[in-house]
Amino acid sequence: MTDRIDVGVAGATGMVGSRLLGLLREHPWFRLAEVGASQRSAGRTLAEALPPEEAHLPESMLALVLKDPGETWKSPLILSALPAPVAEHVEVTLAEAGHVVVSNASAHRMRPDVPLVIPEVNASHLELLDNQPWSGALVTNPNCAVAGLALALAPLHRSFGIERVMVTTFQAISGAGRPGPEADDFLDNVVPFIQGEEEKVAQEPLKILGAPAVAGGAVAGRGAAGIVSADFPISATCARVPVSHGHLLSISVELATKATPAEAAAAITGYASAIEDLALPSAPARALVVTEAAGRPQPKLDRDAEDGMAVTVGRLRACDVLDLKFLALAHNLSRGAAGAALLNAELCHATGVVSTRGLEAAAQ
Ligand SMILES: NC(=O)c1ccc[n+]([C@@H]2O[C@H](COP(=O)([O-])OP(=O)(O)OC[C@H]3O[C@@H](n4cnc5c(N)ncnc54)[C@H](OP(=O)(O)O)[C@@H]3O)[C@@H](O)[C@H]2O)c1
Repeated sequence: MTDRIDVGVAGATGMVGSRLLGLLREHPWFRLAEVGASQRSAGRTLAEALPPEEAHLPESMLALVLKDPGETWKSPLILSALPAPVAEHVEVTLAEAGHVVVSNASAHRMRPDVPLVIPEVNASHLELLDNQPWSGALVTNPNCAVAGLALALAPLHRSFGIERVMVTTFQAISGAGRPGPEADDFLDNVVPFIQGEEEKVAQEPLKILGAPAVAGGAVAGRGAAGIVSADFPISATCARVPVSHGHLLSISVELATKATPAEAAAAITGYASAIEDLALPSAPARALVVTEAAGRPQPKLDRDAEDGMAVTVGRLRACDVLDLKFLALAHNLSRGAAGAALLNAELCHATGVVSTRGLEAAAQ
């Protein structure tokens, strides 16, 4: 793969979009060709529209002029960091126009024909693309708290079967996007509510940990008709805490086959990723790290493990109410958003989705 393919970033001036720009800086497969934002920013260069903390981006990127949401895009691959209400319409329009859209937004995650993917866990869900009605394609990554939860649960579900889950989240301020909440609301405080978050945390892991269901049995050439969700309840409580980056989760699980903390740690450490053979540039050497250090994981100390792409699990111990309890930490902007989308884009490229469905492929 020597020729880099053009990508666009929609929502490039936001918290997730600008993180994507940084990750694309020296990407071996992709070249940033186009950027877009709202009508407020359209026509300005990235240098003019981005906040000062993004001035480290290369001149070639900062000189790009932001597109208006209604403009035509020419890149085969579009990474979307749009707000959900905007993504709902715009991402479908882009997929209809023949782009492969890889989205951070929640708008289409639970659509039966849209894969909700963590490549290490459920790369096979890309089969759903065969059922999409567009010449392009639409692939999504999970909510930022779900990224850590689903990855941490995946080995336990595979090895022992999960019966039910209780989770409380401690979510960083950058998860709220730009400009973010007023500092006064968060200093010396915890806000025990995030609009719409608990529903996503309860539902999205079940789709990710589910299995593709083939329409009418195993029909050659047909994609999965949908996903049969994993069958266990998740009870979630979500809170915003005064941390810059990194979502910490307190998780308790009941297992179908009982396991000791040591057996659970071995299952997590030994989890075989579904994408090891693909050598995706953003794939971490270890998607899951188990720490035995006291008082870990902590956002400040552990969020950058594996360049922010590892989920760190710690304090794995017996639970007197369910079976096991532990803490899990994921960087919300890396594993939880921009890094997750980029990994999905790499998966789409490596598995031929971009070359068979991307705009330029169609034009050739
Ligand atoms: N922050 C996280 O940790 C996180 C994690 C996972 C998923 N997500 C999801 O990722 C998406 C982006 O989140 P964020 O935190 O980066 O949000 P954000 O900081 O508010 O950025 C939103 C971006 O969308 C653009 N935009 C707003 N309205 C638009 C419109 N009508 N047409 C075109 N562009 C428009 C904004 O452009 P202007 O600068 O011109 O307003 C900005 O570039 C959201 O769907 C969010 O739920 C976020």
